[in-house]
Amino acid sequence: MNPVKVGLLGLGTVGGGTINVLRRNAEEISRRAGRGIMITHAAARDINKPRICDTTDILLTTNPQEVVDNPELEIIVELIGGDGLAHEMVLRAIANGKHVVTANKALIAKHGNEIFAAAKEKGVMVAFEAAVAGGIPIIKAMREGLAANRIEWLAGIINGTGNFILTEMRDKGRDFAEVLAEAQSLGYAEADPTFDVEGIDAAHKLTILASIAFGIPLQFERTFTEGISQITREDVVYAEELGYRIKHLGIARRSVGGIEMRVHPTLIPARRLIANVDGVMNAVLVRGDAVGPTLYYGAGAGADPTASAVVADIVDVTRVLTSDPENHVPHLAFQSDAIADTPILPMDEVITSYYLRMQVQDHPGVLADITRILAEVGISVEAMIQRPSLDGGYTVPLIMLTHQIVEAKMNKAIAQIEELKAIQGQVVRIRMETLG
Ligand code: NDP
Ligand code: HSE
Repeated sequence: MNPVKVGLLGLGTVGGGTINVLRRNAEEISRRAGRGIMITHAAARDINKPRICDTTDILLTTNPQEVVDNPELEIIVELIGGDGLAHEMVLRAIANGKHVVTANKALIAKHGNEIFAAAKEKGVMVAFEAAVAGGIPIIKAMREGLAANRIEWLAGIINGTGNFILTEMRDKGRDFAEVLAEAQSLGYAEADPTFDVEGIDAAHKLTILASIAFGIPLQFERTFTEGISQITREDVVYAEELGYRIKHLGIARRSVGGIEMRVHPTLIPARRLIANVDGVMNAVLVRGDAVGPTLYYGAGAGADPTASAVVADIVDVTRVLTSDPENHVPHLAFQSDAIADTPILPMDEVITSYYLRMQVQDHPGVLADITRILAEVGISVEAMIQRPSLDGGYTVPLIMLTHQIVEAKMNKAIAQIEELKAIQGQVVRIRMETLG
């Protein structure tokens, strides 16, 4: 059988990795796919730039549309990123009857509902394994491997750059900006690295995971997002003293009032496996009612790990090129006419426990005022530490861990505490999860 011809949009970190992996493992891959797979055409902004891959035998262009409109190509692999040109090219490829593979989480999280509807109409596949957690086959695991389960919750370290920064800050005391620059030079970070540090990239990924877990439409705009840029080394150290680690987690949970979708720095017990996932590694913990807790671990970013997921998708598409579209695995795991409109829980209604750190004047009655405010809204303190003063006895750091409380009540208590004359600056609040 003739090899399947593939057009590639983007020759950067992931595009280059994809060419390398396809070349390196060509024989093994064709034994798996049942056909050879050949990238024959590719687009990039600058076709003369040195690349991490060998582009010999590939026809290069600066015009992605030429690739998408080429009638010889059956699969288009979109590795440009963003949701402008990539969005336009993916819809055009679908309209041309081509299958699409993408690693673009921003595109899927924001425009996936439209893209999947167009793909269904045309009977083509849109595969996006690399969009979440780099090389970890988490989409396939949840969509197919856990199909028997009612998923209860999932929690993941789903941004490699952010986890790399937090790990280097904790282990080596390195500066935030310096570690971010290293992550960029290693090809881990997004084109706009604020997407990594402010949790936007993780929110894109969580949106996708929540849809696959619960059979709901993609709703990126309803995912609560808080980044890691405010995390200080001080908080990292206090968390360790209390037996916790700070991780930037994406959490999706079925709860009584609806589905929680939130990305924020989180204290988790240091003894949990996921608390020990360091550097650029990602991990996703998924709890299903039948299987119980399951954990998926691997490289969350980088050329070869991400290419591993992209190439697996190309193999999947190649295998079903001639099959009846009605029998394809549904894009979001649930049949498109069975997607539910379960409400998304507003952040104010989420129940969790908290780490609080505040700088307080060191005189009698201050602690009593703080605990009175907490008690009045029903917040119970689980642990507390007060450290010696660093400013000659004027103020001291006070750290508290609380039991679970609804977020709205915690917001009210924090606002009242910040109004106390004895409190200097703002109260630092980090949410906590036991992940038990
Ligand atoms: P890069 O910036 O390294 O690569 C982007 C590529 O797109 C470049 O080759 C660039 O060309 C090309 N490109 C950009 N604009 C145009 C245009 N107008 N016309 C033609 N080509 C264009 O990005 P990555 O490889 O890192 O990321 C690609 C996608 O994969 C993104 O969606 C990203 O979120 C996702 N992803 C990235 C991971 C990673 O570890 N890096 C991991 C998982 C997903 P040129 O090189 O000439 O500038
Ligand atoms: N910038 C992303 C990360 C790439 O660091 O996780 C992988 O999606």
